[in-house]
Amino acid sequence: MKQTLAELMRMSRICRMVFATCLGSFILVIFYFQIMRRNPFVVDGCCRKGSRNALQELYNPTQPELSGAAVLHQARRDQVVDACRVYSASSRKRRVLTPGDLKHLVVDEDHELIYCYVPKVACTNWKRVMMVLTGRGKYSDPMEIPSNEAHVPSNLKTLNQYSIAEINHRLKNYLKFLFVREPFERLVSAYRNKFTLKYNSSFHKRFGTRIVRRYRKNATQEALLNGADVKFKEFAEYLVDPATQRDGPLNEHWQTVYQLCHPCHIHYDMVGKYETLEEDANYVLRLVGVGDSLRFPSYAKSTRTTDAMTAQFFSNISTQQQVQLYQLYKLDFLMFNYSIPSYLRLD
Ligand SMILES: *[C@@H]1O[C@H](CO)[C@@H](O)[C@H](O)[C@H]1NC(C)=O
Ligand SMILES: *[C@@H]1O[C@H](CO)[C@@H](O)[C@H](O)[C@H]1NC(C)=O
Ligand SMILES: *[C@@H]1O[C@H](CO)[C@@H](O)[C@H](O)[C@H]1NC(C)=O
Ligand SMILES: *[C@@H]1O[C@H](CO)[C@@H](O)[C@H](O)[C@H]1NC(C)=O
Repeated sequence: MKQTLAELMRMSRICRMVFATCLGSFILVIFYFQIMRRNPFVVDGCCRKGSRNALQELYNPTQPELSGAAVLHQARRDQVVDACRVYSASSRKRRVLTPGDLKHLVVDEDHELIYCYVPKVACTNWKRVMMVLTGRGKYSDPMEIPSNEAHVPSNLKTLNQYSIAEINHRLKNYLKFLFVREPFERLVSAYRNKFTLKYNSSFHKRFGTRIVRRYRKNATQEALLNGADVKFKEFAEYLVDPATQRDGPLNEHWQTVYQLCHPCHIHYDMVGKYETLEEDANYVLRLVGVGDSLRFPSYAKSTRTTDAMTAQFFSNISTQQQVQLYQLYKLDFLMFNYSIPSYLRLD
């Protein structure tokens, strides 16, 4: 009799515990759904128990419409690996990455993504999208974020801000991607944006005055002071001058993707291209699982630098400069499968 009583009491204690646990999980479930409603990306992308992350979805797609793209992206990855192998065979330069090399890698912990931003390759829009993804519901439409806001460094976390162990964990488990563009089109886009527009005098002051001083004979006082009318020819001279290399890394707007993102050291899982921007960008968003609720902002810039425009600028520089510029950007051409532009006079 005593035993049964003890048993009963134990039973009721178990019941109370079960009840308390049930109540607890009920509250958790409610809380969970509240979060989900505020931020649809969290539920689709990352935090659902047992869900696959974007990296797994890329290499082993469960959605049939993603399988076709998987083949294309495998070919692009292979191209990078091959170019890196050729390069390391022909170069003695070997170096180990330091956290300082990871400043361009933007991290989204919620969706386990790393995006290496390359200026002049839709990077403002990608930063906006990364702010939506990491914003925990703060934003829903990327275009509601002003472009200057997207470039405020503290709005996004970069990989160099983590400890070495955390960096390695993220490099191993996150989907790492970048977007690239035909190197000379990117270069002309940077030149037009920083030297031919009236508004950005900080580039005129920082680079323009130096370029005019070094490469223009008999420059006017005004040009020396303002640096506001740098010719493409002078810009090209500046880029290929060994003295420029000695000054330190190039500005990020004309630095090579090779130097910005280190694709021979960091294995990028996905290489997007500016030429197929929307398709590639929305592919990433579908891998993340947010493709239904978040679209990459579509582009309609009429001032966009085109291939024909690039050819015009290159027709104004000497053959020697063309060859030197090709040498400077050669790795970007090879790694990302851009052919030698037909307007170049390489021999
Ligand atoms: C490289 O470009 C060529 C020509 O545009 C194309 O046929 C080929 O499929 C591309 N290869 C990769 C890996 O993208
Ligand atoms: C001009 O360039 C500087 C340096 O990159 C940047 O901080 C500033 O926001 C730019 N101004 C405009 C109006 O784009
Ligand atoms: C330098 O520029 C001034 C004014 O534009 C001009 O009078 C002069 O002939 C120029 N000298 C040379 C060597 O080009
Ligand atoms: C090419 O050079 C000519 C002569 O200096 C100049 O008038 C023209 O604007 C230049 N074109 C481009 C696209 O830079």
